[in-house]
Amino acid sequence: MCGIVGYIGSDLACERLIEGLRRLEYRGYDSAGVALIDPQGDLWARKRVGRVAELDDAVFDAPEAQIGIAHTRWATHGGITEPNAHPHLDATRQIAVVHNGIIENMHALRQQLESEGVHFRSETDTEVLPHLIRKFYRGDPVAAVRATLRLVRGTYGIAVLFADHPDRIVAARLGSPLVVGLGEGETVLASDPQAIIELTRRVVYLDDREIAVISRDGVKVERLDGRTRDADITLIDDEAYGVADLQGFPHFMLKEIHEQPESIQRCLRGRIQGEEGNAKLGGFQMDPRALVRIERVIALGCGTSYHAGMVGAMALESLARVPARAEVASEFRYRNPIIPRDALFLAVSQSGETMDTLGAVQEVLVKGGHVAGVVNVVGSTIARTTGKGVYVHSGPEIAVASTKAFTSQVTALMVFTLMVARTRNLSLDAGRQMARALEELPAKVHAYLRDPGPIQVAVEAVTEAPYVLFLGRGFSYPVALEGALKLKEIAYIPCEAYPSGEMKHGPIAMIDQGAPVLFLAPADQHRDKNISNLKEVQARGARLIVVHTEGDDELAELADLSIPVPAVPDYLSPLITVLPLQLLAYHAGLALGRDVDKPRNLAKSVTVE
Ligand code: AGP
Repeated sequence: MCGIVGYIGSDLACERLIEGLRRLEYRGYDSAGVALIDPQGDLWARKRVGRVAELDDAVFDAPEAQIGIAHTRWATHGGITEPNAHPHLDATRQIAVVHNGIIENMHALRQQLESEGVHFRSETDTEVLPHLIRKFYRGDPVAAVRATLRLVRGTYGIAVLFADHPDRIVAARLGSPLVVGLGEGETVLASDPQAIIELTRRVVYLDDREIAVISRDGVKVERLDGRTRDADITLIDDEAYGVADLQGFPHFMLKEIHEQPESIQRCLRGRIQGEEGNAKLGGFQMDPRALVRIERVIALGCGTSYHAGMVGAMALESLARVPARAEVASEFRYRNPIIPRDALFLAVSQSGETMDTLGAVQEVLVKGGHVAGVVNVVGSTIARTTGKGVYVHSGPEIAVASTKAFTSQVTALMVFTLMVARTRNLSLDAGRQMARALEELPAKVHAYLRDPGPIQVAVEAVTEAPYVLFLGRGFSYPVALEGALKLKEIAYIPCEAYPSGEMKHGPIAMIDQGAPVLFLAPADQHRDKNISNLKEVQARGARLIVVHTEGDDELAELADLSIPVPAVPDYLSPLITVLPLQLLAYHAGLALGRDVDKPRNLAKSVTVE
């Protein structure tokens, strides 16, 4: 979604800002812009609809400025147009603002400003900010920003330039992340550490209701209410952010699919205790006596992370015998949920910035509940807000479609399940078996990816079809949901997922001659029931693409197209059966000419509601 970069130092600010924007491209956006203070003390700005490359072409005549701010916009208020792109300037062109988030009371603020004679040039909510800051500006940038933010309802991460203060960028946040990177004689601001990682590992995260003054020598942070705070420096690790490099793959999505043996391995590293048939996740800050007091677990997440939460909840219930469920965070947060004292909530999120999941976490915390994060991005808002949990360590996920983060999230939830299960009725022997099965997983993922079966034939079947149905039972139902989500978001093919047994209560009406049905039928406790469901759709002419366990000849023969996968225990099957579905979505998207890494309308990190 929207991205912010700011730079102050001795290099050419424009070049550094464009470089930063390129590193944020993966988040999804539709226009981009930059504002600089030139050596004469004037504001210079340029914006373009489309890619950062187009903005780069348009800034050929940028002044030799050493300070500036830049933005990638993902439209919310107002269409995808140049006037709506950021930065937004006040009428005197003395103040420039970039903004992530949504100003909810923008209509009232705009009406008031218009009645005072202000002329608006865009349809955005953001434009009220430079005009309000101008209104309150008496020579003190921080005072003007603070006075403005007092009037604003909604969420923001902002960066502001004042033409008459070329020695500072003022930034503030409420609900939209900002991080400051400290270099030698230069300082960078960004909404995502990915934009600054090449400059420095030394960062200061801003918290909600904080305002920062960024100079080439560092950063000064204050609370919006005037209290000061020490700018604690955090060292971010390279593994978490690594350099976003294709390493020979044509797309990040394919690279990330193929990284899964290593990303799962990283998630397991140092956490499995094979001899004890147990596991250790110190980040939960829970010893066995605390674990055994958990009476229920509720996983909260959106999209793919919600699907991972569903798998985790099933594992906790079936292996640890703890009542568990997953909930869509955007629904949960607004229904005044009951927060039982003995429940553990798990906030599952790749980015750690998803607004709906963060909102759900805050609702749990407000009601005195107990919540831990299952997060990929180190130092992200959800990780810092929960203050405990597990990092899934999948490494940076650049493609908008989540692949390796899903398998790492599920792996982390399985490790947690093992820990909880061992405090209940899982025996030492059964614990050892589960530990061994987890440790064998990366090799099985690798084996499948080396020889993924007839994916291209499946691609032909789904790309020619007007509709695709995904079916699965038990642990395979969240995988069916995940497969359908992937095919929708990457290939834009209409499809849906259903529990296999539920299919005859409606979706079977969609099946006619040749309709592709993607059936997940690993050799688990539902296998025989699945065979009956499979025959029901086959009898109506469906073209069956079946993902089944290697060596299951009966299923291979029943299928029109058989995709065998390595054998694993039931509860680990999602980590294997999801792989062909990821590849199917990727290759179908490619065959249809889609932008597989940056599908239309989507953003990597959904920081608005
Ligand atoms: C996954 O492919 C999607 N792009 C999307 O559903 C994503 O999983 C969802 O927005 C949640 O994001 P998070 O994991 O960063 O919280």
